[in-house]
Amino acid sequence: MGSRIILFAIFSVLAIASSSSVNAATAKSPISSPAPAPAPEYVNLTHLFSFAGPYKIFLGYLESTKVLDTFQNQANDTTEGITIFAPNDAAFSKLKNPSLANLTQDQLRSVCLYHALAHYYTLADFQKLSQSGPVTTFAGGQYSLNFTDNSGTVLIDSGWSKTKISSSVSATDRAAVYEVNKVLLPEAIFGTDIPPTSAPAPAPTPETAPTADSPAADGGSKSAPASSTKPSSSFKISSLSALTHLVFAVAIGGFLFL
Ligand SMILES: *[C@@H]1O[C@H](CO)[C@@H](O)[C@H](O)[C@H]1NC(C)=O
Ligand SMILES: *[C@@H]1O[C@H](CO)[C@@H](O)[C@H](O)[C@H]1NC(C)=O
Ligand SMILES: *[C@@H]1O[C@H](CO)[C@@H](O)[C@H](O)[C@H]1NC(C)=O
Ligand SMILES: *[C@@H]1O[C@H](CO)[C@@H](O)[C@H](O)[C@H]1NC(C)=O
Repeated sequence: MGSRIILFAIFSVLAIASSSSVNAATAKSPISSPAPAPAPEYVNLTHLFSFAGPYKIFLGYLESTKVLDTFQNQANDTTEGITIFAPNDAAFSKLKNPSLANLTQDQLRSVCLYHALAHYYTLADFQKLSQSGPVTTFAGGQYSLNFTDNSGTVLIDSGWSKTKISSSVSATDRAAVYEVNKVLLPEAIFGTDIPPTSAPAPAPTPETAPTADSPAADGGSKSAPASSTKPSSSFKISSLSALTHLVFAVAIGGFLFL
């Protein structure tokens, strides 16, 4: 008798757990209803870069070079989608030598395009990408990046810039935006004459005045903590594993009873 109750308890917990994980999985794509007005599937990149974090300087460059339209079109109108690496404002402030100061408009445009891949990649996809050798960016041709997957941390190497994906800013159906702590400088523009050992870089340099690099007048708004938007999936994963633990605990409790 008692064991039946326990079995029932186990089954109901299992049922709750599985139904809630199904909910989590389906929550993303709204159930197709005959409603005439579809929710906007596209991401508004201007909005995202204005409000998601301190990406004002990056946004300024994207706007002044019109690359923003290119990216938005790619996100809107292609099934390939887009992956964007957004340097935060601090990344531009750190940029001293070389800097973007003397670049022509064409070169600036290439640097902006260099911060995107013409395909939507999830974080997990980078493991495969890391085995495929240099990956051509949106800038095309010799503008490539090398990716390394270091047990879940995605390292990015442009030759000049070695950085990593520090957070996932947004991932809709066709646009993935990841934050990086450095501006990606392509060898195709800055050459291969990379000074050796820029290694002991991460000394906590106090942020000084905003550099002249910023095209935006208000580019200097310094906000100290690089706000890292946590990907909501990590929450899902942790709450799921909590459920698993609970199920496990109940099962063991049942065993002890029998
Ligand atoms: C995108 O967001 C910006 C900033 O919030 C807004 O000004 C603009 O109208 C939006 N564009 C579209 C197409 O919704
Ligand atoms: C992207 O799609 C939105 C919604 O349809 C539209 O308002 C916006 O103008 C489009 N932007 C581009 C660059 O195609
Ligand atoms: C930009 O060009 C000026 C004049 O040609 C030069 O003095 C300066 O060092 C250059 N700056 C950078 C960052 O290359
Ligand atoms: C990327 O890796 C290849 C070797 O796989 C190397 O030849 C190339 O120089 C690297 N490029 C960058 C930008 O680090």
